[in-house]
Amino acid sequence: MINAIILAAGKGTRMKTDLPKCAFPILEKPMIKYIMDALDKTKVDKKIVVVGYKKEVFYELLNDVYFAEQVNQLGTADAVKAALNYIDDDGISLIIPGDTPLINYEKINSLIELELSMNKDIALLTTILDNPTGYGRIIREDGKIVRIAEENDAYSDEKQIKEVNTGIMVVKNSFLKEAIHKIKNNNSKKEYYLTDLIQFASEISSIILDENDILYGINDLYALSMVEEKVRKNILKKHMLNGVNIINPNTVTIYPDVEIEDGVTIYPNSFIKGKSIIKKGAIIGPNSELNNATVLENAKVVHSVVYDSTINKNASVGPFAHVRLHTVIGESNRIGNFVEVKNSILGTNTKSSHLSYLGDSEIGNNVNIGCGSITVNYDGKAKNKTVIGDNVFVGCNSNLIAPIKIEKNAFIAAGSTITEDVEEADLAIARSKQINKKGYAKKYK
Ligand code: UD1
Ligand code: CA
Repeated sequence: MINAIILAAGKGTRMKTDLPKCAFPILEKPMIKYIMDALDKTKVDKKIVVVGYKKEVFYELLNDVYFAEQVNQLGTADAVKAALNYIDDDGISLIIPGDTPLINYEKINSLIELELSMNKDIALLTTILDNPTGYGRIIREDGKIVRIAEENDAYSDEKQIKEVNTGIMVVKNSFLKEAIHKIKNNNSKKEYYLTDLIQFASEISSIILDENDILYGINDLYALSMVEEKVRKNILKKHMLNGVNIINPNTVTIYPDVEIEDGVTIYPNSFIKGKSIIKKGAIIGPNSELNNATVLENAKVVHSVVYDSTINKNASVGPFAHVRLHTVIGESNRIGNFVEVKNSILGTNTKSSHLSYLGDSEIGNNVNIGCGSITVNYDGKAKNKTVIGDNVFVGCNSNLIAPIKIEKNAFIAAGSTITEDVEEADLAIARSKQINKKGYAKKYK
């Protein structure tokens, strides 16, 4: 049995925010979820999350984990103690701080493999930093790790050491259960340091990460911003290597849970968030924001905003369109300049190219919504529905006062305010009659 103990009970005092540090979002995804996702791809059988400060936040965020409570935050060793009831006497445990979202499953797996093959008390993950300030320094004698000196307790010569503790280790349960109780808090912070476990181990194996990466362990909002930038770049790289063409990637942000197929092109200044899915041949941007949007094959979203909606194949949205709230834009639709579509379902080949509002509507195939036409869905009290059948032509600048139904093949004359249902293939005109007064223009001028 392989356990993972994730330490997330601390407040994160250096963050200077109310939210517990390990729940803080990076590209809208809580830090600890990155770790959980990485763990899901490893051999770990059981995840134990140690919570304390604002524990309810974690109860909301995480499923499929065991929660252990650390009542007072007395240090990282004390946090591990809180999890001991959940682990067996044999087997091994991965211990991982909840503020290391950049750790990936390959690194975790190699540390687990090291422990399984060497069978030492501890397998420790370290890294070399140009500026090791703030981290626990790895003290070696004859190459063997003998101790970790925390920043506040290290001697000045020890502070020169550039090899530091990532906080990530795999331990033998039998060793952990005994040694953890020997740790004392006689240090500058009066905390129980997990790093003191080292001194009780008879043998330690280690992996030194070959990257000069200061981003293990986020302690403040500055480090957080650097990690966010790194996560952002990693996501872009993954998509580009998968065949997504991203133009000027410095200006593009793709959030972690977005799925994009190869053959998609993304132009500058685009944000793609939430559980968005983008299929082959689609074009996004420039200057577009998508959140929980599904954009199917060869559809285009240009200079536009799409929230919680689906854009079907070959449809074109924008420039300057706003599509939102469970809207389905039909196949080969054209939704153009300054058009807002809310909570509406549109059929195939339908067009609304200029200056319209379509809200709470159900619109069929081959419908033409003329420039400036509006579904008048709100009467000041309730939102009402507009239904428009196939092949309807809605002339420019029409108001369709909902609830209303325009049956298929009907024709609405431009400038009409329609208040009564229109039957199949009828023509509706609802505007005042024009009078031309002979020669009056000349007289007027
Ligand atoms: C820790 C290590 C340090 C290492 C660094 C790597 C110790 C004593 N030091 O320092 O050697 O270089 O991580 O980033 O372990 N936590 C609890 N309960 C507590 C205290 C902390 O659950 O009582 C949790 C925190 O929520 C956090 C994690 O443990 O997720 C690490 O705590 P933190 O205070 O950030 O440790 P560092 O000082 O960074
Ligand atoms: Ca830390």
